[in-house]
Amino acid sequence: MSNDPIYVTQPLLPDLEEFLPYLEQIWASKQLTNGGNMHRQLEQQLADYLGVEHVALFNSGTIALLTALQALRITGEVITTPYSFVATTHSLLWNGIRPVFADIDPHSFNLDPEKIEAAITPHTTAIMPVHCYGNPCQVQAIQRIADNYNLKVIYDAAHSFGVRDAGGSILRHGDLSVLSFHATKVFNTFEGGAIICPDAKTKKRIDQLKNFGFVDEVTVVANGINGKMSEINAAFGLLQLKHIDQALAQRQHIAQRYNQQLKDIKGISIPAGLLEQTTNNSYYPILIDSNYPISRDALYQRLRDNSIYSRRYFYPLISQFPMYRGLVSAQPENLATATEIAEKVLCLPIYPALTEDEQDRVISLIKDVLNACNS
Ligand SMILES: Cc1ncc(COP(=O)(O)O)c(C=O)c1O
Repeated sequence: MSNDPIYVTQPLLPDLEEFLPYLEQIWASKQLTNGGNMHRQLEQQLADYLGVEHVALFNSGTIALLTALQALRITGEVITTPYSFVATTHSLLWNGIRPVFADIDPHSFNLDPEKIEAAITPHTTAIMPVHCYGNPCQVQAIQRIADNYNLKVIYDAAHSFGVRDAGGSILRHGDLSVLSFHATKVFNTFEGGAIICPDAKTKKRIDQLKNFGFVDEVTVVANGINGKMSEINAAFGLLQLKHIDQALAQRQHIAQRYNQQLKDIKGISIPAGLLEQTTNNSYYPILIDSNYPISRDALYQRLRDNSIYSRRYFYPLISQFPMYRGLVSAQPENLATATEIAEKVLCLPIYPALTEDEQDRVISLIKDVLNACNS
């Protein structure tokens, strides 16, 4: 068996030849950024593909999160999850907002609505939930809380490209949703992101904010930022869109194969979202508990020793990083479920180009540990 490295992910990268005509168009237009033709086309095609009203493209998901908070003029405290990538909470600190961590639910790994409600104070202005691994949050319960307490909801939907529920795109919920198109994401533009918003007025404000606050050549209405996506990134997005359905189907095939092979292993559990296929299979997390012969960290190391690079997403919890751990809400007693899941989770390699042979290397290693202990 080959010992070539297998990484947790690999970007979706169509043939270079397919990209060259896009580059020729950009060279001919001589417009490299500031809302050019590629940018306009990608916003429209993404809105159509995702089934949403308005898409505002950005140069990263993080800048999109920062701008979403500015667009809704969020201040004070925002309730969010410790079980995510640091950018979720960093976007709050960059806006001078205090993050308040609430615990997650053990099945979805998303914010537990009851814990959200318990964390509300007179300073709370918004909720920032994450559809972790692309698995939908309890959107109705969260909206009920937001309506009752007059709070805004900004979803960090960085993992959720193409995820739908019974009523349509998951991105239609809340006041705004933010996508990341980072290279590691299901849909990538090398770097990039977007804000999904329901109405043209908010989209206009967001478009001004991402362009330094300019309205026209001589008028600046807000202290905006440079959040613009370049024509090259937008063009790559247009090319990605042509391959996205196949990429999502390949991810689904890989996830179902893992489900089949790993579901009956003692000490390993698979999140319901993967078994029930409510996600876009952007990640393949498993939980390793004490019934498995070795610890999560030992399995992580065993895989590494065999050139398989799994990742412990999301360990450590955001609440454990130095800029957050002094907060009252960051204390592990307040975050018992997130703390437990962070100790058990391991994300296995999943990406469209992962071959069955490569996947079998991952599965065999996990099973070998078990067989070695039983023999
Ligand atoms: C949950 C989450 N939020 C935000 C981000 C930030 O996105 P970006 O890397 O595009 O800035 C990421 C990923 O990178 C993420 O996983």
